[in-house]
Amino acid sequence: MSCTGEPSVVVKPFGKTKDGELVHQYTLTGAGGVVMDVIDYGGKVVRLFTPDRTGKLTDVTLGFNSVSGYETIDPYFGSLIGRYGNRIAHGKFTLDGQTYTLPTNNVPGGVACSLHGGTKGFDAHVWHSEPLSEGKNVGVKFTMTSPDGDQGYPGKVDVTVCYWLTSDNVWRIEYEATTDKATPINMTQHLYFNFKGEAEGTILDHELTLFADHMTPVDKGLIPTGKIVSVKGTPFDFTVPWAIGARINANDEQLAFGGGYDHNFVLNNQSGKLAPAAALYEKTTGRFMEVWTTEPGIQFYCGNFLTDQVPGKRGKNLCYRGGLALETQHYPDSPNQPNFPSTILRPGSVYKTVTEYRFSTK
Ligand code: GAL
Repeated sequence: MSCTGEPSVVVKPFGKTKDGELVHQYTLTGAGGVVMDVIDYGGKVVRLFTPDRTGKLTDVTLGFNSVSGYETIDPYFGSLIGRYGNRIAHGKFTLDGQTYTLPTNNVPGGVACSLHGGTKGFDAHVWHSEPLSEGKNVGVKFTMTSPDGDQGYPGKVDVTVCYWLTSDNVWRIEYEATTDKATPINMTQHLYFNFKGEAEGTILDHELTLFADHMTPVDKGLIPTGKIVSVKGTPFDFTVPWAIGARINANDEQLAFGGGYDHNFVLNNQSGKLAPAAALYEKTTGRFMEVWTTEPGIQFYCGNFLTDQVPGKRGKNLCYRGGLALETQHYPDSPNQPNFPSTILRPGSVYKTVTEYRFSTK
């Protein structure tokens, strides 16, 4: 594969869901060399090829070759997440005096919660999709309507998500939603990265920077306690680059609850304008990525629930901590946390967020 050229979008069938719905794959080839395969089932990024410092393209994300892979094992590989990214305690929240009950689909530490939108979140729907192209940028537009009461959430929500691949190797995600009743909404993307390549070992040697002086500690059920604490002097201080594995075994209650890093960081930028959130570097390949977002938080999850029972895309199994996710978001459990920024979308307002993953090398 060449490293630069004409941008293109090519659509072809990817397979069918167990209910017989047709799933399409869009191959986005950017003028800067990055190539990504994206499917309209859950807006999932199946493959992401980025150049190393010699220009060689490698697939640096975790995924499956078939729809049934995603339907059988679900670590949310490459998925669009909604309505609510991360956890809502006990699958319950109260809004404008009414209590809503959501399906609980996760029990960390023995405590049930609703994770990533419930038992059938946005990641498990076939979206309407169409190709995008504007100048040297190519992309795909996903739309869907989540009906009133979907997974227990109020209001009919219309959602549009655009993925753009720019000529300078930026993957830009634009999220938009409107509702006809007040509802929580907190969308994200759950791509896993391994800059050495999928199924090429752990990510413990990747160097991470987080533009976050604070984080939201959790209880044993991985629900925020409501506190916002400084990372200074803790294994959560990534304000300068640290290898992910350097302090992961430290004697620290938060690391014990998460089984490693699985926490929301409070970004220094709270302006709602696009600003740096994270940077990730892998020194043997030279791959470097910056994450920019308009969101106030980022979930850093280092694959603590992955195992070597998960098959990779090239015949090799994955492994524990074989990928990491940097999920831009509002804070987990915000509908139950009065001191966190609000995630409530009301009729007449438009939910709009932007996140960019900027790929390069050094
Ligand atoms: C993350 C979450 C983890 C885990 C993962 C999916 O967003 O923080 O605890 O549930 O998704 O396996």
